[in-house]
Amino acid sequence: MIPKDIVDKIIDEARIEEVVGDFISLKKRGANLLGLCPFHNEKTPSFTVSPAKGIYKCFGCGKAGNSVNFIMDHESLSYPEALRYLAQKYRIEIQEKEISPEEKAQQTERESLLVVTGYAQKYFSNALWDSDEGKSVGLSYFYERGFTDETIRKFQLGYSFEERKAFSKAALADKFQIEYLIKTGLSILSEKHKENSPISIHDIFDRYTSRVIFPIHSGTGKVLGFGGRILGSDKKLAKYINSPQTDIYDKSKVLYGLFFAKKQITQKDVCYLVEGYTDVISMHQAGIENVVSSSGTSLTVEQIKLIHRFTSHITILYDGDLAGIKASFRGIDLILEEGMNVKVLLFPDGDDPDSFSKKVTRQELQEFIEKNAVDFIRFKTNLLYEEAKQDPIKKASLIKEIIESVAIIPDAITRNTYITECSNLLHTNEQTLVFEVQNIRRKKQQKQAASQQDVPQNVQQQVETALFINGQAKDDLQKLLDADLNPFAEQEKNLVRLLLLYGQHIIQLQRYNEYKELTPVKVSVAEYILNELQQDDLYFIDSVCQLFIQEFLYQIQKENVPSTDYFIKHKNPQLAQTAVHLISNSNQLSENWKKKYGLWVAQEDDNLRKTVNHDLFIYKEKRLEKLIDEEKEKLRNISSDEEMQNILEHIKNLEALKIRFNSFLGRTII
Ligand code: CTP
Ligand code: MN
Repeated sequence: MIPKDIVDKIIDEARIEEVVGDFISLKKRGANLLGLCPFHNEKTPSFTVSPAKGIYKCFGCGKAGNSVNFIMDHESLSYPEALRYLAQKYRIEIQEKEISPEEKAQQTERESLLVVTGYAQKYFSNALWDSDEGKSVGLSYFYERGFTDETIRKFQLGYSFEERKAFSKAALADKFQIEYLIKTGLSILSEKHKENSPISIHDIFDRYTSRVIFPIHSGTGKVLGFGGRILGSDKKLAKYINSPQTDIYDKSKVLYGLFFAKKQITQKDVCYLVEGYTDVISMHQAGIENVVSSSGTSLTVEQIKLIHRFTSHITILYDGDLAGIKASFRGIDLILEEGMNVKVLLFPDGDDPDSFSKKVTRQELQEFIEKNAVDFIRFKTNLLYEEAKQDPIKKASLIKEIIESVAIIPDAITRNTYITECSNLLHTNEQTLVFEVQNIRRKKQQKQAASQQDVPQNVQQQVETALFINGQAKDDLQKLLDADLNPFAEQEKNLVRLLLLYGQHIIQLQRYNEYKELTPVKVSVAEYILNELQQDDLYFIDSVCQLFIQEFLYQIQKENVPSTDYFIKHKNPQLAQTAVHLISNSNQLSENWKKKYGLWVAQEDDNLRKTVNHDLFIYKEKRLEKLIDEEKEKLRNISSDEEMQNILEHIKNLEALKIRFNSFLGRTII
């Protein structure tokens, strides 16, 4: 963990114009700097940097944030990685604290293991290129498969000798510790070895013998493990032997080829997902480099998130056998759940990307993929519809299968697009599908809500934990909830925007004192808004907005109304980025506001008190209306007269409150 004060220092010292200036050239325009946006293609610059505020914003694609956000986005780094990058740039020493001696030991052990795998990679490559056995067996195998020298070098492919202890002996002779050879999975401890007795070369043998070697790289190019393929097609031997789970290699968190693919994935804005090592390599050789493989294991959430750092589009390229199809079904739902777009392409009879890419030109391959990749609904429908259309029961279960996938998609607009498509393809009533999807989602949300209620509501603790976990503060289900259940998102964002921009401003209000006389009081906008929300027990439904509220509460408890700048430089990158978005979208947002409600014309900071009051009460009124609707809904299925009385009473109170709000609004508007 990077200590908090160092994080502050890094964020303070990083100059946005310098950080961005390392990557794009900026020209001065008034108080700001202007350049070509690195996040989308443009010919006229709309990427604006404000040195005074420490933020950037692209008026073309909408990307915005502070220095840390920029490095995270541009360099595809995690939050701590981005901080380290900036620390290095500004020569700020990071003295990692809170690392226990055991953790420290583990860290240095991981480094040692990486040294061993790096050594092994070179050993296997040398064996391939520089030994007679390697050349005649290994290299000729790769040539037979059509791999060029360049490809073999690029992927650092290798060869493991037939001799059972060749690697282990060499590594020991080069002074590597036997313990690390075992911990990396390169050497295997013989079963005959007695526990607690010292281990020698007699107790170990090589994991890989007589195989060609595929090193597996981390996203930054370090060798984590290996896959070794037999040379022939001996059915008795496993075709591939892979590294076991080790302290540096977790197969569920690694994608084969990612290191070589990430640049092209960003540039092409799509990632092709194939099944195996050779598929990745052959596609590269054919000139298509945005390809990764989950290497025989079924796709995991962690792997999908890895891809999501570079693009939101995945196309699954599998061979058309049943195993391939099943694997893609499972993968599809996971990808949709991550909020990404997924297409599927099955290769014709008996071909996989490896074999297919060798039959056609690069251009043909690219066109084949683009033409034949279909979205997941078409994919499932194509596969199953022929069989299902005659049979109503099968058809119903096909629809259900597709709808379950649609319901997973977090974004409402995307969901609706798919519903329309599904309705067209399967000749089904659209409204019914909409209803079904809502049903599935509601059930899921109820489950979620039920499990959330046990969480203790200690504000301070919540803020501490929510704000300082690195990276993602929001879990996926919460996102799902936000996107769908929150008709108030715009109002909540607007209130946070007011808090950010004007939280410290003082407004004067009329309050009744103890003698029932109206007297003027002065409070900060932040205190006023928070007080109003608390009085009515209102929590924002948007979890990021609520995070802002909690942070304000927490700071105000400490007698400190935080400034705009405080949030722009916030330690939680999500809060910082949202803050930049909200304040930089200021004008646009209030434009929407005017259009929607047709009320507000005056400059909002001239009329701060009125603006705040108005927006606050509009929000409250909307929430109230929703509450009343929900109560009325309850009336539909009640079990007793008493229950009905209670609900009616509640509705009456709420209606009365609404009238009060209305009159209040009426007054403020004039
Ligand atoms: N795999 C594995 N162990 C096996 C078989 C397969 O780990 N015994 C993994 C490998 O990562 C392999 C992927 O599953 O790359 C796909 O398997 P397959 O299609 O059989 O292998 P290919 O990569 O196509 O290898 P080749 O073309 O050399 O047959
Ligand atoms: Mn193959």
